[in-house]
Amino acid sequence: MTLRNDIDEILFSEEDIKEITKRLASELTRDYDCKNPVFVALLKGSIMFMGDLVKYVDTHLEMDFMDVSSYVGTKSTGEVKILKDLSTSIEGRHVVIVEDIVETGATLNYIIDFLRSRKAESVEVVTLLDKPIPERKLEVDVKYIGTTIPEGFVVGYGLDFNENYRNLPYIGLLKPELYN
Ligand code: IMP
Ligand code: MG
Repeated sequence: MTLRNDIDEILFSEEDIKEITKRLASELTRDYDCKNPVFVALLKGSIMFMGDLVKYVDTHLEMDFMDVSSYVGTKSTGEVKILKDLSTSIEGRHVVIVEDIVETGATLNYIIDFLRSRKAESVEVVTLLDKPIPERKLEVDVKYIGTTIPEGFVVGYGLDFNENYRNLPYIGLLKPELYN
């Protein structure tokens, strides 16, 4: 029994992820040079992406982390609970939110508003994966997108199913019989 048995198809290998991440990092280097941005990763799914992304961003930056959870039953309103707040004051700072995957965008919209209300100078989003599902009713303002994926549940490289599979080095489609 290996984890690979639970994966239908590998969508992005370690090499693919590295290539996408380097491309995003060079866009961020160009746009944030001399701005000393704060990169805010949303726990826990974004930790691997954050770790790899910043290695290729060639300008000064600071890292911070937030943990949020959607209130059960109110996901569509995007109302979220802050489990771990930032340790940096972001007033007057350029903030880059680092996300693993955007689906409905509900969580992200809430966080963007929340960070703007703390008077950040700018707030932009970089996501590794974009999964534009039909239920995405909200306009989500994501400036930097690694790649767009079709519907289906993906795991690995930080992404989980019930807290498992985050440790896979690649991103793959989880076999539907495991979550249906
Ligand atoms: P949203 O608020 O609907 O955009 O939800 C995005 C969050 O849902 C992501 O940060 C992930 O934690 C989770 N998520 C959405 N799709 C997937 C997936 O295919 N695999 C793993 N987690 C997912
Ligand atoms: Mg997440």
